[in-house]
Amino acid sequence: MSTRKKWESHSPNQTIARGRLIGQTLHPGTVIALVGGLGSGKTTLVKGLALGLGVKDSREVKSPTFVILHRYEGRSPLNHFDLYRLDRTSDLDRMGIEEFLSDPNAISVVEWADRIPSILSEADIRIELSRSGDTDRLIQMDARGR
Ligand SMILES: Nc1ncnc2c1ncn2[C@@H]1O[C@H](COP(=O)(O)OP(=O)(O)OP(=O)(O)O)[C@@H](O)[C@H]1O
Ligand SMILES: [Mg+2]
Repeated sequence: MSTRKKWESHSPNQTIARGRLIGQTLHPGTVIALVGGLGSGKTTLVKGLALGLGVKDSREVKSPTFVILHRYEGRSPLNHFDLYRLDRTSDLDRMGIEEFLSDPNAISVVEWADRIPSILSEADIRIELSRSGDTDRLIQMDARGR
């Protein structure tokens, strides 16, 4: 079974609100791949996911710039990866990341997931963001399973 949905967002707050609704429905063990160019709204959507998962201080949510992973405590732990800086991902890095992704108790979200094709193809949910205007974004979600 798979679901495909598409939404338009006209402001950062609408993207956060969409993320929040998605976050409220997530089950532990879910891996979400985020795809979309610079400034397309990936981190903004993650703020919403964190809110939907009950992370107390969603201001904590920012792109992990110097580290690859942030972890927030919510209803389930949320692992937030950003692969932008990984231009040559070693097998060791990839295996380390995959170990976090296979944690059945956590939810993981990966910005620039397309930098590691195996992660993109194994994700339960794939969300693509694209810029359609200054403050307009198209959000397309493909989910497999429930
Ligand atoms: N509808 C919208 N949804 C999300 N962000 C928007 C929207 N309109 C404008 N923006 C702006 O676009 C930028 C999105 O930044 P954000 O960090 O979320 O993108 P990103 O995809 O994570 O970028 P990066 O690839 O650099 O990590 C912010 O400055 C935000 O204010
Ligand atoms: Mg980002």
